[in-house]
Amino acid sequence: PGKASQVKLVLLGESAVGKSSLVLRFVNREYVDNREPTIGAAFLTQKCHLNDRSIKFEIWDTAGQERFHSLAPMYYRNAQAAVVVYDITKSATLEKAKSWVKELQRQAHPEIVIALIGNKLDLVQGEPESECLRQVNKEDAQAYAHEAGLLFFETSAKSSENVDLVFAGIAKDIPLE
Ligand code: GTP
Ligand code: MG
Repeated sequence: PGKASQVKLVLLGESAVGKSSLVLRFVNREYVDNREPTIGAAFLTQKCHLNDRSIKFEIWDTAGQERFHSLAPMYYRNAQAAVVVYDITKSATLEKAKSWVKELQRQAHPEIVIALIGNKLDLVQGEPESECLRQVNKEDAQAYAHEAGLLFFETSAKSSENVDLVFAGIAKDIPLE
């Protein structure tokens, strides 16, 4: 019989990068366009199985709007994992993500597992001209993530591409009892 473990996870990143959409894709297997911004934070849980272990994610989906910034420490303080999200079609959101990573590395638990996620991959796929929408080069973001010791994925909450890989990757990296 496998061991059950709880993993406290926090999502951070600028407003509208798709944090809530990623979590709802992972937990409820759903996606809606034009989601309302999160107010404060939302709490969700999801169980998953990795090898013979059962893992329960306890997820705090924080609000990215600047007026909620001061609440964030409450949610990342006890977190074992953080998912820091940016939008690959908006380079300013990567800068914001980097500042969250710095804050986590200074203030969160020293062993926290951090994943950097470039979301909205669907927007740059398909038509040849759609690649023009991309503002963040994948190799550059990946190199930064590697240097900073972060997991890295590009995802689409809309198409669901790579979303499960994020959580499986985190589960694998967390030392569980
Ligand atoms: P806050 O709660 O304000 O911090 O925003 P958020 O990061 O939770 O963003 P949210 O999930 O609400 O998504 C913002 C907008 O982007 C919504 O209109 C979503 O439908 C859209 N969106 C989210 N993920 C994707 C994606 O993977 N692809 C595309 N094309 N749109 C997305
Ligand atoms: Mg949200």
